[in-house]
Amino acid sequence: MKNLEQIQNFDNENFVHPWESMKDVGNNTRMFAEAAEGIYIYDENGQKLIDGPGGMWCVQIGYGRREMAEAISSQILKLPYYSPWNMSASPSAMLAKKLAELAPGDLNHVFFTTCGSTAVDSAIRFVHFYNNVLGRPEKKKVISREHSYHGSTYLSASVSGKSRDKDWLDTANELVHFLPDVNPNRRPEDMSLETFLEEKVADLENAIITLGAENVGAFIAEPVMSSGGVIIPPKGYHKRCLEICRQYDVLYISDEVVTAFGRLGHWFSSKEVFDIEPDIITCAKGLTSGYVPMGACIISDRIFSKISGDNAHGATFSNGYTYSGHPVSSAAALKNIEIFETEGLLEHVREISPYFLQRLEDLRKLPLVGDTRGVGLVGCVEGRIVDPENPDALVLDIEMGSRIDKHCQELGLIVRPLWNMCVFSPPLIITPEQIDDMFNILEQGIIRTAEELRQEGLWKG
Ligand SMILES: Cc1ncc(COP(=O)(O)O)c(C=O)c1O
Repeated sequence: MKNLEQIQNFDNENFVHPWESMKDVGNNTRMFAEAAEGIYIYDENGQKLIDGPGGMWCVQIGYGRREMAEAISSQILKLPYYSPWNMSASPSAMLAKKLAELAPGDLNHVFFTTCGSTAVDSAIRFVHFYNNVLGRPEKKKVISREHSYHGSTYLSASVSGKSRDKDWLDTANELVHFLPDVNPNRRPEDMSLETFLEEKVADLENAIITLGAENVGAFIAEPVMSSGGVIIPPKGYHKRCLEICRQYDVLYISDEVVTAFGRLGHWFSSKEVFDIEPDIITCAKGLTSGYVPMGACIISDRIFSKISGDNAHGATFSNGYTYSGHPVSSAAALKNIEIFETEGLLEHVREISPYFLQRLEDLRKLPLVGDTRGVGLVGCVEGRIVDPENPDALVLDIEMGSRIDKHCQELGLIVRPLWNMCVFSPPLIITPEQIDDMFNILEQGIIRTAEELRQEGLWKG
């Protein structure tokens, strides 16, 4: 067995992490997650920490579920792999049927992928394919929104609107048009929510008209903009946007990578929470509770029927992965869904989320907290330090987030700092007592950070 220092060296020298900060290469001291149980992670020193972000908004059923491990291992022993090109297997077909049942309306065609990015990538490729088959090769542009996040393949990153992520990488700019900020909290002080909603819907319609409906293939939106800071649009926003899309024959992709599988108390949030039946839904994360990788792109009968069967014109959708519909991932997803059903996890989320949201809102009493917002079991705390006029704003934002992170970690809570924001999406099995533990630690972590920043003259609050 290697000692900890050696292992940390391997990590520093050989493991290139997502969003690797290149200046820190070789000098990182990352926490090691060595074990986990329920809502807790144990680090390399055996410290027990509440997993505030639930992995990356994905570990819905919590860690250490024996029945999940058994479903995965028995599928591995029975059939670890088959080629989805020319064969099928029972778990994959059963999962496709189950997802068609759980998804809203006529979304019945499931294209399996390996993660959320490839689900979004496949959705956009499908839109292009669809318009090619329909003889409209110009209808390809995707309208997305500032601050959105849709993934890390070339296409899914291209439609992501977090500008800071684009400083050092290329994207297919010619393919995308971004609509301005949809955060209602950043609207002018004298603007009503109703006027803001009208403005945001008009942004979409104007963009379609300006680009030319004949050039616009799809609009993509997260029901709740998650990595962008848990931005909840004004009531009716998605419904109105869908109406606009239908009016101009633009497909609506609802990116439910975060919001599906119980995060908002429902299998999918598009219909149940936002009252829309989109043309395509993308999902991943909670589909397998993060135990094994899998994503899916679910397509409606309405559009699928226009380019298949007698309408196919000999076309082949030449898009897919060695691991599309992987039998082990499919078995894990089926078991995950079964656990949701037998334990009433959706009902549990609906029951406890008001308490979660109340504790979140209570944090506003702290001077360092500028805003809190949340829905279901996902929430965000935004620090006050942010000042777009300040040239050091980015540095200060990161500093504040990382200090809250450090203090909370010492106190037994993992937070996910995003610049000046901390987002929370704990495992859905969390109890009211554990919600208290989580917010008590967070409160302490913010208080300690505020004191430190004040003492160092970095914040005058
Ligand atoms: C809304 C949304 N779409 C897509 C993705 C990409 O998913 P993945 O990291 O599984 O590729 C994410 C990841 O956080 C996401 O939040």
